Amino acid sequence: MRIGHGLNLLLVLTFSLEVESKGGRGTGRGRSRSFRVTQKRMIKRTAKSGSIERTQVFRSALLGAGAGYLVASKGRFYIQNPRDPILFEERKFYWDSQYYPINDTLPVQCVNPIDPQDPQLGRIYFSNESHAREIVWGCEGGAECCGYDCCMDDGIFSSILRLAFVIVLLALIGLLLIECIRWMIYCIAQFRTKNSFNPVSTHI
Ligand SMILES: *[C@@H]1O[C@H](CO)[C@@H](O)[C@H](O)[C@H]1NC(C)=O
Ligand SMILES: *[C@@H]1O[C@H](CO)[C@@H](O)[C@H](O)[C@H]1NC(C)=O
Repeated sequence: MRIGHGLNLLLVLTFSLEVESKGGRGTGRGRSRSFRVTQKRMIKRTAKSGSIERTQVFRSALLGAGAGYLVASKGRFYIQNPRDPILFEERKFYWDSQYYPINDTLPVQCVNPIDPQDPQLGRIYFSNESHAREIVWGCEGGAECCGYDCCMDDGIFSSILRLAFVIVLLALIGLLLIECIRWMIYCIAQFRTKNSFNPVSTHI
């Protein structure tokens, strides 16, 4: 009877824990919904580091003598026409956010700042002698900005994984608690039976 009571109590406890974790999933859903809403508008993202190889190729495409984007003069590179995008692997890259045309098909605006100390890109200037500050391009909805590329956003997927992990962890903790309490109840019961039968056992 007592073991049954303890189990019932634990079941109620684990159930409330589950409800709590379901509440967590609810807020997760809410978050992804608002994410989708903001996606309709423009999201501006600073690029994370991407493939070093691709960045190298992008740099040489940009600075290459034949590319025609820059004119070298006295150790500096001057941007020919800041409005002209740089075409690289079927994407358009712009010299500054102000030249980036907002485009509904590419709702993520990626910005990769140029380090003025960069030995190559740090020598790129506008015709008014001010440093080029950033490279800007567009990515599809839900994409992340990596290097000079768009990569897939795994945010929703990883949050589902995280949720699954939390649920499994809670279930394990619940099971462990049930086993502990069962063991305790068992020990108490053993102790009690031993105590009540002790006088008899000493006679044997
Ligand atoms: C938006 O981007 C797409 C894909 O790059 C392009 O085909 C389209 O012409 C652009 N639209 C505008 C208004 O620039
Ligand atoms: C120089 O030109 C760039 C690009 O048009 C602009 O962003 C920057 O503010 C200008 N700098 C000065 C000092 O006018």
